[in-house]
Formats: sequence, structure tokens, C-alpha cells
Amino acid sequence: MIIRTQTDGFIHPLGSEITPQAAFLDRRRWLAQSAVALGSAWGLGHASAAQAAKGAPLKGVRSTVAGAMALEALTPYADVTGYNNFYEFGLDKADPARNAHTLKTTPWTVSVEGLVAKPRTWGMEELIKLAPMEERIYRLRCVEGWSMVVPWVGYSLSALIRAVQPLGSARYVEFVTQADPATMPGLRNSVLNWPYLEGLRLDEAQHPLTLLTFGVYGEVLPKQNGAPLRLVVPWKYGFKSGKSIVKIRFTDREPQTSWNVAAPNEYGFFANVNPAVTHPRWSQATERRIGEAAGLFAKRRPTELFNGYGPQVASMYAGMDLRRFF
Ligand code: MTE
Repeated sequence: MIIRTQTDGFIHPLGSEITPQAAFLDRRRWLAQSAVALGSAWGLGHASAAQAAKGAPLKGVRSTVAGAMALEALTPYADVTGYNNFYEFGLDKADPARNAHTLKTTPWTVSVEGLVAKPRTWGMEELIKLAPMEERIYRLRCVEGWSMVVPWVGYSLSALIRAVQPLGSARYVEFVTQADPATMPGLRNSVLNWPYLEGLRLDEAQHPLTLLTFGVYGEVLPKQNGAPLRLVVPWKYGFKSGKSIVKIRFTDREPQTSWNVAAPNEYGFFANVNPAVTHPRWSQATERRIGEAAGLFAKRRPTELFNGYGPQVASMYAGMDLRRFF
């Protein structure tokens, strides 16, 4: 059952339907706080690594970016953090939650380089202070035919892009993620080339909906969700949202991406959610919402072009043949 509260206009699942989760239950107060309490796991001294493991609070103000607050029931915390794709920690959906505890997230730096006026390496303390944290409720559609609705915490990647000043020749952005054989058992599997690489066109990376993500459900990201920072690009299939990013590189040509290299007929560079572009193994016409009552037998919902974010993003693809540039 779903209720819509008078005060915040959200559609909430009843508490009994979700895993008890302090940040969620505390949500009204959280949203009421306009000051962002960034008492987080990084940099603010004593809090540090132990807290990160427990899920240190990371609050965000309600986003005003168009399309950033999906009015749908949130996927339960247990599913968001327990049903994951993070192949560096195994191929099974339960593997990342089981195995990702070995990921070492402190210290962590992100090198921003390539065709920018101000290349440099950022520490997490600087990154989390660069722009106000916002809460964004996004639909996440996986190419495997399932979807979730997730309350992320972060800010538009465009804030970081502005800070590094791309050169006129920059047209694409490459995202390189962590690949450490000592802490990531999945690297023994050659299903993908490591590190996991992703990329966006510069205008896509600058789009306000593209979220540099540090938290979920009011806490710093659990390791299985891509701690300490990841991307979320809500109008694209989930694989475009690289986890545990260590390098962001601005280029003049389309970067290679791990999935495109692994199976070019299945995974294109753009990977915009599109029910009209078929996939050899999974339906893209409909999707199963993870965590919904009735589980596997729940009614599948129709998948929307651009995952429903067409009003915000369709203009970036005007005139493009989306079947060819899939
Ligand atoms: N990032 C890395 N580094 N490794 C991965 O295997 N999987 C992708 C994406 N980012 C993946 C990754 C896929 S296929 C999906 S659907 C999303 O992460 C899942 O994010 P979630 O587990 O937080 O829901």
C-alpha cells in the first residue's frame, strides 16, 4: 500500500513494507533542514572510516533540478543495498553486499585530467564541499529488465566540470573506476576488461540530472553501491553509472567503455533507455520493479523512452537515429 503525505507530497511505501531505516523514517526532518549537515565519513577528522562502514549520515537538501524527484514509491533500502551489480565483487546480485567490505575507501582521490584548463587531483574532503548536497529520487533502469527508485545524495557533475574548465576541444568525458586485485576478487573474472570504464558526451555529462553521487538513503554510499563516489545518469541504462570512480578524463574522441568492448552488439556507447531498441537477451519494452509486492509475479511496467526523463534530455538527441546510436 502506498500513502501520499500531505506535507511533502511524496508517495511513501508504508513503513511495514520497507526495511527499517533511520534516515528514511527521519526524512521529514531531514528535508526540513535546509542547512546541509555534512558530518560525513571523510575529512571531518574522527568520523572517518569506521563510520563509513556503518553508514555515516550524509544529508541533502531537496533538489530543485527539473525531473530530479520521481514521485514514486522508493525501492526498499534492503534491495537498493542488497541487489547490486558491481562485478568487481562478483557476478551474483548478492555478491557485492557480501564481498565489498574489502574495498578501501579512505584515503581516496579522484584525478581530473585531459582537456581541461585546471587538471588536478581532488581529495574527498574537497569534493564533498564543492557544491551543496542534494537529495535526488531517480528511477534506475538496468538493461537486465529491472528497475528501482532510489533516493541518492550528491550534486550535479556539472559543478565539478565548471571547476576544472574544459577546453574548447573537449567533447567527451571518460570515467575510470577503481581496479585493485588485492581488494576486488571479481577482477579474477575476465567477463570485462578492468578497470570498468564508462563515458559520456560532454553535454550529457554537463546535464543537470547527471549526478555525482556520494550517498543514498541519507547515508554515505555503502561500498556495494559504489563508495565513495559514483555516477548516476538516470535516463541511461544502469551500466553507464560507474561506481567507485578514481579518474575523470576529458577527451576529444569517444572513449572506450567496458561493456561496449565486451559485447558491442548488446551495449552501445549511448545506452539511452529505449523500449524500441531490442536487446538479444532481455526485454527493453517492459521492466520489473525490484522490491514490489508479489515479487517475480508483479505486473511488469512499460519501459519509457529515456526512462521517463525525455522532457529533460530528449533535445540532446534531436535528429539522431537512436537505433543506430543505441
Ligand atoms: N560500476 C562498476 N565499477 N562495476 C560494475 O559492475 N555495474 C553497473 C553500474 N556501475 C557496475 C558499475 C550496472 S550494470 C548497474 S545496473 C549499476 O551499477 C547498479 O547500481 P546499484 O547496484 O547501485 O543499483
